[in-house]
Amino acid sequence: MKSQSQRGPVFIGEEEIARRVSEMAAEISRDYAGQTPHFIAVLNGAFIFMADLLRKIELPLTLDFMAVSSYQGTESSGEVELIKDLSRPIGGRHVIIVEDIVDTGITLEYLLEYMHARKPASLKVAALLSKPSRRLRDVPVDYLGFEIENAYVYGYGLDRDQLDRNLPYITSLP
Ligand code: IMP
Ligand code: MG
Repeated sequence: MKSQSQRGPVFIGEEEIARRVSEMAAEISRDYAGQTPHFIAVLNGAFIFMADLLRKIELPLTLDFMAVSSYQGTESSGEVELIKDLSRPIGGRHVIIVEDIVDTGITLEYLLEYMHARKPASLKVAALLSKPSRRLRDVPVDYLGFEIENAYVYGYGLDRDQLDRNLPYITSLP
């Protein structure tokens, strides 16, 4: 592991992220009015997005975390492994999966099947980023922050070989 983090140029800045996350939260708050949605963040990448998104949601809500691994270094392995399971049942709940980025869609496809089998009342997806040109699976993204080109991005929860998740903005590899 490198000890020095290299802070690349700003690709999506803090204010732009904050603005978009607030808009997404407002949309979710409207769509789920009168309900108590259950948010499931996909660790590790979604932890900062989840924290910012939920603080802008004006509804009673519950949350949980799941961890899967499908990425080795900066190359997708195409295999999804369950690392941390749900802590509580989701049957009958209005579930929203919170993802950092949808790339090939393999991870999200796995998660959707996994959760669907547990019979939630409804199941939707909120993702901060999406790279549609990389898609190998046709997966729905109901709430999307930003659509981006095919570049490896990191910061704001996303890693570059486990580093730089703490960058407050999103940058990309040159
Ligand atoms: P998938 O290819 O859609 O299954 O993406 C799997 C996971 O890889 C995502 O949830 C991210 O955690 C990670 N990932 C994909 N693209 C990037 C990227 O550009 N930067 C950092 N992580 C990424
Ligand atoms: Mg992820």
